[in-house]
Amino acid sequence: MLRASVLRALGRPAAARVPLLGGPGARRYGSGAPTVGEDAAHARAYFTTPVFYVNAAPHIGHLYSALLADALCRLRGLRAPGAAAPRLSTGTDEHGLKIQQAAAAAGLAPRALCDRVSAQFRRLFRDAGVAATDFIRTTEARHRAAVQHFWGVLAARGLLYKGLYEGWYCASDECFLPDAKVTRQPGPAGESCPVSLESGHPVSWTKEENYIFRLSQFREPLRRWLRSNPRAIVPEPFHHAVLQWLEEELPDLSVSRRSSHLPWGIPVPGDDSQTVYVWVDALVNYLTVIGYPNAEFRSWWPAASHIIGKDILKFHAIYWPALLLGAGLSPPHRIYVHSHWTVCGQKMSKSLGNVVDPMACLDRYTVDGFRYFLLRQGVPSWDCDYYDEKVVKLLDSELADALGGLLSRCTARRINPAGTYPAFCPSCFPREPGAQGPAVRAQAEDYALVSAVAALPKQVADCYENFQIYKALEAVSSCVRQTNGFVQRHAPWKLSWESPADAPWLGTVLHVALECLRVCGTLLQPVTPNLADKLLSRLGVSAAERGLEELSFLPRFYGHQCPFEGRRLGPETGLLFPRLDQSRARMVKAQGT
Ligand code: MSP
Repeated sequence: MLRASVLRALGRPAAARVPLLGGPGARRYGSGAPTVGEDAAHARAYFTTPVFYVNAAPHIGHLYSALLADALCRLRGLRAPGAAAPRLSTGTDEHGLKIQQAAAAAGLAPRALCDRVSAQFRRLFRDAGVAATDFIRTTEARHRAAVQHFWGVLAARGLLYKGLYEGWYCASDECFLPDAKVTRQPGPAGESCPVSLESGHPVSWTKEENYIFRLSQFREPLRRWLRSNPRAIVPEPFHHAVLQWLEEELPDLSVSRRSSHLPWGIPVPGDDSQTVYVWVDALVNYLTVIGYPNAEFRSWWPAASHIIGKDILKFHAIYWPALLLGAGLSPPHRIYVHSHWTVCGQKMSKSLGNVVDPMACLDRYTVDGFRYFLLRQGVPSWDCDYYDEKVVKLLDSELADALGGLLSRCTARRINPAGTYPAFCPSCFPREPGAQGPAVRAQAEDYALVSAVAALPKQVADCYENFQIYKALEAVSSCVRQTNGFVQRHAPWKLSWESPADAPWLGTVLHVALECLRVCGTLLQPVTPNLADKLLSRLGVSAAERGLEELSFLPRFYGHQCPFEGRRLGPETGLLFPRLDQSRARMVKAQGT
């Protein structure tokens, strides 16, 4: 069911209709082609977002791509603090017909439009806490040099030839389309207009002599790469979809445009009459960032994990690996694919006027709130629908009430007057469930809580590995809910520090709850870094104690020392996450509940 729907959503890859005008049959690729194994990618990690088109301001879908990459990169940094710091690159895709046309429509020079919109992306990512180590603009000189070098390598390896390209071109999608992928729709004056079947964007007939890349030679090598790296594309249905595409013929690809028609781009080396196809230009950004063609790039390639939306899978999973193999390089380590955000059930588009401004969302819901929402609700295998009420409901219930409420309950002066991480009492909460003794207070559900939180770090790591960040957050949220249940069950506010019978158990209840909060806070760092910092600081957890490798839960229960026991809590700094729906907060207060 899932697989079928993903395939439907993706359609089949578009391809140019290319009569082959000649050029010698170039070398065969395959047996000797490098592939990337898990080990090769272990030493370094390099995460990338797509480079974003600058034809329009950023929207929440773009931010979602960047947040997924940021969370994966942050997790990696927390898991392997000793290894080289992981890299995260993002940036803007500034050449091509789409941008040239958008600039003309706005009455601007392309460069001016690029400067303006690229700065908006940069600001958005900075404000949203996307910890990018690199921001690239494809109009930079370093990138032009990298693209021209890459082109030169392909040419030297006999993989480019001149041919007549004739077929449909979609400027909005910057891609060639076969007849089968084009349909007709009534235009503004009722005339019949050809449009892309998949995107609905207008297409135009193009006939010109271009440089053509011998993509067809790479069908077998690509299939071998995917078959021997079953996790190259995650989630699996996308991997399967690409293999399905490769069952069909793979035509050669036109990789340049006439520069009289498209001046806004990188000139083909040695032939100014042609401009490099914008997708080849854009894809090479992943190499430019790491210093290509200087040898230093080899320490980061092929450790790349590309985070992309499903609409650009064909470019990343077919064209890009083929181009890399052609240039004698390995395909990327991994391609993580996500689906799209719709708004109130509709595709987001400027013409529908329903584009959600991510800057306004960060303002309204806070940076951590909005990060949490997108990553908790976004499911890579499915399109997700956005509406404001959903954000308020989720954040109020999971961050304000459940997580923030739990922290307040366990640290409030009334209940924790000493302001410390209280001691755990093994006689109250013995390791063996069902153990008898006068001090035993723990119940069966309490053991279930301990098992759930103890298993949480591994569960979260597995979810990230499978690109299911939403599931990781669901698991964290479920543990927070269970911990609230634990506190509710034992009502520490009814226990007294003055009573010798109550005090050890009261301390134990708070200790266990704080331990659950510490584990959840540590695991939330990749998604809500500021909120997690506030939570962990309140618990008195130092920066050096926040890594994931050494994260152990409730050591006292397992008979070990706990470095936090007896430690002073950090200073009180107000509510962890204030409720967004204040009207409800007031109502609850007025009712005294
Ligand atoms: N410039 C190309 C990428 C070149 S990468 C070598 C491009 N740019 S884009 O701005 O159109 O899209 C960038 C990313 O945003 C893609 O991953 C795309 O899937 C994602 N999204 C665009 N709209 C989206 C939604 N509505 N929802 C989620 N992500 C979406 O393609």
